[in-house]
Amino acid sequence: MTQPVALTTRDGIAVITIDNPPVNALSPGVPEGVLTALETAERDPSVRAMVMICAGRTFISGADIKELEAAARNPESGGPDLHPLLTRIEDCAKPVIMAIHGMALGGGLEVAMAGHYRVAVADASLGAPEVNLGIIPGAEGTQRLPRLVGVAAAVEMCVSGRPLKAPQALQMGLLDRVITSINDGDLLSGAVKFAHEVAGLPVRKTRERNELGSASENAAIFAAGRAQAGKIRRNQTAPLAALEALEAATTLPFDQGCKKEREIVRRVLAGDQAKAMIHIFFAERAVARVPGIPKGTATYPIAKVGIIGAGTMGGGIAMACANAGISVLLKETEQAALDRGVAAIRKNYESSVKKGRFSQAVMDQRMALIHPQLTYDGFDQADLIIEAVFESMPLKKQIFGDIDKIAKRDCVLASNTSTLDIDEIAAATSRPQMVIGLHFFSPAHVMRLVEIVRGKHPSNEVVATSLAIAKKLGKVGVVVGNCRGFVGNRMMLPYMREAQFLAEEGSTPQQVDKALTDFGMAMGIFAVDDMGGIDLAYRVKQEYAYLRKPGERVPLVLDKLYEMGRLGQKRGMGWYRYDESRSPIPDPDVNSLIERTASEAGIARRSITPEEIIERSVYVMINEGARILEEGHAQRAADIDVIYCTGYGFPNYRGGPMWYADTVGLKNVYARVRDFHQRHGHLWEPAPLLKKLAEENSTFAEWDLAKG
Ligand code: NAI
Repeated sequence: MTQPVALTTRDGIAVITIDNPPVNALSPGVPEGVLTALETAERDPSVRAMVMICAGRTFISGADIKELEAAARNPESGGPDLHPLLTRIEDCAKPVIMAIHGMALGGGLEVAMAGHYRVAVADASLGAPEVNLGIIPGAEGTQRLPRLVGVAAAVEMCVSGRPLKAPQALQMGLLDRVITSINDGDLLSGAVKFAHEVAGLPVRKTRERNELGSASENAAIFAAGRAQAGKIRRNQTAPLAALEALEAATTLPFDQGCKKEREIVRRVLAGDQAKAMIHIFFAERAVARVPGIPKGTATYPIAKVGIIGAGTMGGGIAMACANAGISVLLKETEQAALDRGVAAIRKNYESSVKKGRFSQAVMDQRMALIHPQLTYDGFDQADLIIEAVFESMPLKKQIFGDIDKIAKRDCVLASNTSTLDIDEIAAATSRPQMVIGLHFFSPAHVMRLVEIVRGKHPSNEVVATSLAIAKKLGKVGVVVGNCRGFVGNRMMLPYMREAQFLAEEGSTPQQVDKALTDFGMAMGIFAVDDMGGIDLAYRVKQEYAYLRKPGERVPLVLDKLYEMGRLGQKRGMGWYRYDESRSPIPDPDVNSLIERTASEAGIARRSITPEEIIERSVYVMINEGARILEEGHAQRAADIDVIYCTGYGFPNYRGGPMWYADTVGLKNVYARVRDFHQRHGHLWEPAPLLKKLAEENSTFAEWDLAKG
């Protein structure tokens, strides 16, 4: 293996180059290599200053995430110790200039801040995204960052986790120069030029900068930071821990501040949230490894997409494609529907332009990629056709029969169905091996999840292409089996049902929703029901009625809301009332309706604790998840976690429902499920896999590992 760090000299300036593909992470060997190069250059009398730069596509992009995972398993270690390296860089007698391209994030930024100067190309980004993994900058970052950018900016960076682009970083003092090709040539030439300018000047140590503002100014900044953390990272411990460490920077000398930071790092690493968020980070990357689809499986190139149906989903998928630079043919049956669909797309883009998310020129480019039409013209050139018409089997079969006659032989044919049997749809074509489900979530240009529904027929290449498409669209594709509701909705149905039972037994919808949002769900389930539409929930309930066992308990209030025309947000009322702000307002009429219905059905009402609400809502999902796993409709428990965290608002810091079950302990979950089974009947029958793992004192994570 080649050495990850090389030392050369250029005109009296030492150039230390890190080359550790793919992203120059600080893996074992890299810090040691840098140290050796630095000491050699320092001893060399011909060297006046040093430039540290990276090969490949980026500066040091961060700590080695595998090491962080190991640290979360063994928090006392405190994670990789970069202290000796950083001190050595900062203590170097000759100026050290960090030359940044790509990303300097996390540990990468921490190394950069130990240098005496930082220069970067204009499109580089610098940031402290550790909160996204439930941790804090742990290599003195919380102590150096406020010394360079000021306390307020450091608070914003550590709480939001958002990176800065180079020009902004320059303004804030994190960079000393932005290298432009006109003035300076490439990054290395620019950095070497800069090094000549500062060679011979006394070195400027970040840790010796001590203008950190007055106590009263800082108190206000930290109070605002805590308020912001409560808003954008509700219930999360890492941003508060980062604030505590930043506060230490303002009150303690540097060395003591670093000591305090290390203590806090150990504490957050020992917590459940860091473990859960690191789990989700790896799980999101692991979903692309699908059993039976070897790495390197060929994929079909996708340059042109045909979409059938310009309704809610078709329009959203068209935007997702255009946003990724893919050309789209968007077909409708009638001009009026087509006009409505295009107008919705335009309105959406206009609102993004107004909010400054992108420019008018970008909007125009994207609109130009979408070709509205009433015919199948050009569909014979499409590489992928996605059907997004009404949820009706006869209609979908007819459409698949039609496109089978038009599409080229290697075109992937996908349906966005959310409930129908993909094999039955595939059977309407002469090439079922090319047919797959691509289940996008609404709004499709925003939501990251795509369930890739693999029936009996699709070829490996079609599955691999679907994963590649999801990635190209910036989404997370999770392969699931062809079962009723696939994975996400199959688990959501019992969750919705249980919430309605809780309301009949004594909770109000807002009490249920509050317990759920306090737990960390992005929205309460009644609010979700109102957003999706009571008519939709009613239709699904009707459709599944034939599956009910005799005497099975059914929720009673939903049908009444439907009959009353309280169809949810779109009608301004459902489980809640809505005003223009679309926030749910508790409605006493609904509470009385629930009470009346319960009393007519002879259901005794009682006060229900938030703990019971959470247990019944979440454990019912977990129990269904265990069945899905056992039936093989999800490959791994971790896949279910990804589906719930990316598509259903489950909090990342709890790691998804299956990870959460492991955290609670499967023995405990199983005991409560048995308890509910005794009290509430067969809908709570424990899943055999849950029983088995609980009795073996095992976990879903171990089950995943054993499956490989
Ligand atoms: P929608 O009712 O908003 O749009 C359907 C569109 O298809 C209508 O504009 C209709 O004019 C058009 N259409 C019908 N027959 C057509 C044909 N032969 N050729 C071209 N266009 C035709 O429905 P929505 O909500 O977009 O749903 C579409 C599909 O996506 C359904 O299968 C649904 O189950 C699924 N889905 C819906 C989600 C949602 O949240 N709305 C989420 C995930 C999947």
